[in-house]
Amino acid sequence: MRDYEFYYTQDGSVGLYSYADNDVYHSKFGALTEAWEKFVIPSGIEKKLNTVDSIKILDVCYGIGYNTKALMSFVINSDEKILKNLKKENFIKKFIKKYLVKNKSIDTIDVNNINCYNEELLAPTETILSKISIDCLEIKNDLVKISPFLKTIITPQEAYTKIVPKIFDCFDTYWAIKKFIGKHSKLFAPKNRKEIRELLDLKFNNDYDEIENEYRINNLVNYIIIDTLINKYKDSYFNLDLQEILKDKKLKRFFDRSLIKYAKFKQDFRYNYLSRFDLLAFLHNIYYDHLSKRYKKIKSKDIESLIKLSFYVNDARKSILTLEGGYDFIFLDAFAYTKAPQLWTVEFMAELYRRLSPTGLLMTYSNSALVRNTLLENNFYVGKIFDKKTNKFIGTIAAKEKSLIKYPLSNYELGLCATKAGIPYHDETLSATRENILKRREIEFRNSELMTSSKYMKVRREREIEGLNDNED
Ligand SMILES: C[S@@+](CC[C@H](N)C(=O)[O-])C[C@H]1O[C@@H](n2cnc3c(N)ncnc32)[C@H](O)[C@@H]1O
Repeated sequence: MRDYEFYYTQDGSVGLYSYADNDVYHSKFGALTEAWEKFVIPSGIEKKLNTVDSIKILDVCYGIGYNTKALMSFVINSDEKILKNLKKENFIKKFIKKYLVKNKSIDTIDVNNINCYNEELLAPTETILSKISIDCLEIKNDLVKISPFLKTIITPQEAYTKIVPKIFDCFDTYWAIKKFIGKHSKLFAPKNRKEIRELLDLKFNNDYDEIENEYRINNLVNYIIIDTLINKYKDSYFNLDLQEILKDKKLKRFFDRSLIKYAKFKQDFRYNYLSRFDLLAFLHNIYYDHLSKRYKKIKSKDIESLIKLSFYVNDARKSILTLEGGYDFIFLDAFAYTKAPQLWTVEFMAELYRRLSPTGLLMTYSNSALVRNTLLENNFYVGKIFDKKTNKFIGTIAAKEKSLIKYPLSNYELGLCATKAGIPYHDETLSATRENILKRREIEFRNSELMTSSKYMKVRREREIEGLNDNED
């Protein structure tokens, strides 16, 4: 049985809940929004894109890939030409739908040969995209595999027409309502009622347009991920578990069918070419019959070669040891530290420190004293991620170079790190169990003579009343 459930987060993107960890994978306020605001925007990648030849990113806890997708999307969108002129995604969809899926007689063709680009437009795109390489670490195989098929955001229109199909139009008559409810009884089951309410809220939420425009994922991203994954998993891509998930009726609305079709096509027929002669004849016909003049200089190309993506599906504590490093950005998106302390230990963080480039940045959503202290113990300079929209600090950022930290921790926050709350986890062998890591800290906590965080806060408040706190607090 799957140990997770799908749900919609408030920005319309799909989130997951894990039974095993009794924790959500994504913030209920918006999986996609979080990826942008806590990882991509604070990275300041746009400055780097223009000044360096290559950018290396480490996505620790890839999950269903929001952080990687948001970053890829940012890079792709930053080359407007690819968006405005290439229209790659539409092109592929149309192509497959019209000529390949419908026409069963042509069921063996190397789909690589239909990834057509306009050569002139490809050049600038290639230069930007080929600068990027992302290493993705994740323990769960099936999450990685389903990641490209997830609709990364449901639009208000979709929410309105698909999930609450024509609710208002149907309500003209009593009979229409009854009929509608009968037909869509599942939607009105108690479990879904809240979801519908949320989706309607979404529909009427004024902020939505902003979210949609700013944080949308370019679908090309999913094509790149599919291509890379199929390459990696080759024949086993659609194993039974994955098929079961993709076929599950209840989950249907979370997946993009055309991407599934594309992936199936790509996998099934990749190694079964038509004879070279037939293949060329086929492409020749398509080319002359159906492609506009814009695509005259057609070029076949593997999408995945545009951006270098690598997946390491294992415990991140093992994967990290196989990686060389030199990362410009590290995204640390593990479950909360009480649920998964394994990826918040001093020793794991030390491995991250070793692999961060001297001018690199590590980002995480956590604001806790424990996580910050663990970073400090590893000689990171530690600061806060500031969100301009809400005027709040929404995460933690760390670097090897002091000047890269725009909002350093205040004296108050540094003091908090030095309380019992900041006592870090340890795992020297990078293989201890969750229970052992927790237990070890618990003992240390009990025996520690440090001040508790509540005592510390009380003392600070008293000092504040007396006007004794530092200005920098
Ligand atoms: C909070 S979620 C991350 C969500 C993810 N960034 C996304 O965009 O979907 C934490 C992820 O860590 C993974 N995970 C848990 N323990 C891990 C480990 N030891 N090594 C690698 N990944 C792990 C989980 O399977 C889960 O996907």
